[in-house]
Amino acid sequence: MPTSDIGLEKTLAALGVTEAAQVVARFAEVRAQFDGQFQTVHDESEWKIFRDAWLGRKSGVLTLVTDNWLKPAMPELKRVVGQQLNELRAHVESQIEARRLAVESGAEEAALTRDRIDLSLPGVLRPIGSHHLIRQVFQKIEDIFFSIGFSVVEGPEIETPYYNFEALNIPEFHPVRDDMDTFYLELPKGATTPLLLRTHTSPMQIRTMEKQKPPVRVIVPGKVYRRDNPDATHSFAFHQIEGLAVDTDITFCDFTGTIEYFVKQFFGPSVKTRFRPSYFPFTEPSVEFDVSCPFCAGTGTAASGGTCSKCKGAAWIELFGAGMVDPAVYGHVNYDAKKVSGFAFGIGIDRLAMLKYGIDDIQVFFQNDVRFLRQFP
Ligand code: DAH
Repeated sequence: MPTSDIGLEKTLAALGVTEAAQVVARFAEVRAQFDGQFQTVHDESEWKIFRDAWLGRKSGVLTLVTDNWLKPAMPELKRVVGQQLNELRAHVESQIEARRLAVESGAEEAALTRDRIDLSLPGVLRPIGSHHLIRQVFQKIEDIFFSIGFSVVEGPEIETPYYNFEALNIPEFHPVRDDMDTFYLELPKGATTPLLLRTHTSPMQIRTMEKQKPPVRVIVPGKVYRRDNPDATHSFAFHQIEGLAVDTDITFCDFTGTIEYFVKQFFGPSVKTRFRPSYFPFTEPSVEFDVSCPFCAGTGTAASGGTCSKCKGAAWIELFGAGMVDPAVYGHVNYDAKKVSGFAFGIGIDRLAMLKYGIDDIQVFFQNDVRFLRQFP
């Protein structure tokens, strides 16, 4: 800071100051210089340099004035020099302190402005996902069965042949195994039980009855696996919901009533239902359950007048397999086949979702194309 040109290095005598008025004039110059520099101090680091230049012990302006002007002053000027110096010191100290406060609060204000959170700004919008359509259909079906007293259980996707086949009355060389010839796992050396990816959710019938005495009323949602080549209606992984109800007095009427209730809840009250005889090793009698085609209102004729493309003119669509639990199954779970009866069903979820939402290719469920997924928010 430029302070040398006011003669601080010299004594007053060397500067030719011999009268009180000259002393006052010199001090006025120093003060003017102080006031000028004072204007240029805006932040903390400038303030520190400024403070040291004026108040520094060794070579601050006030020290120089004391050492060079006051101490060697002629006796007749000493009083006025001392007085002037005191005034100057008071001015310098009070101004520097005032500047410190101003600089500090200014810095705070600047920091505050920088960090201020503007609560009126809109927040960051993160896209919210939704459940996959298959999950949504699972939930719809679960809700319907919850409302009539069923509960949900889940089971392992890796099964033993015993649960997947034998306990369901499918012995080793039974022809229905051909349909389900499937994915066996490579086993560690020495393992004795083969393992496979379950081909249906039916093994959970056995696992549930092993754990629980009647009455049983459960549904089992889950993934199943088969050695199917992918096409518009086949996939090597798909989804089922198994159902099982066993008690001492369950009749074929309870069975049909329950299934009909479910289908009307799911597709709407106007659909018609029908059974056709079928075959499953673990049910007797077994049925295939059909629903009147929801696309052509069970007429077989499309709105355009041509054949309905969904039911191919049949007016009915095959929905799923079901039946009364075969007594042979009870033998595997220590239920008394003479005392209990029940029904079971196995619903293909992908197929049901395709029917309900008019989807004509099962592969879209597995491709994760958001253009498809977004249609079912
Ligand atoms: N598990 C059979 C399948 O995947 C479906 C099925 C049919 C399940 C009849 C049942 C049933 O519980 O009673 O092909």
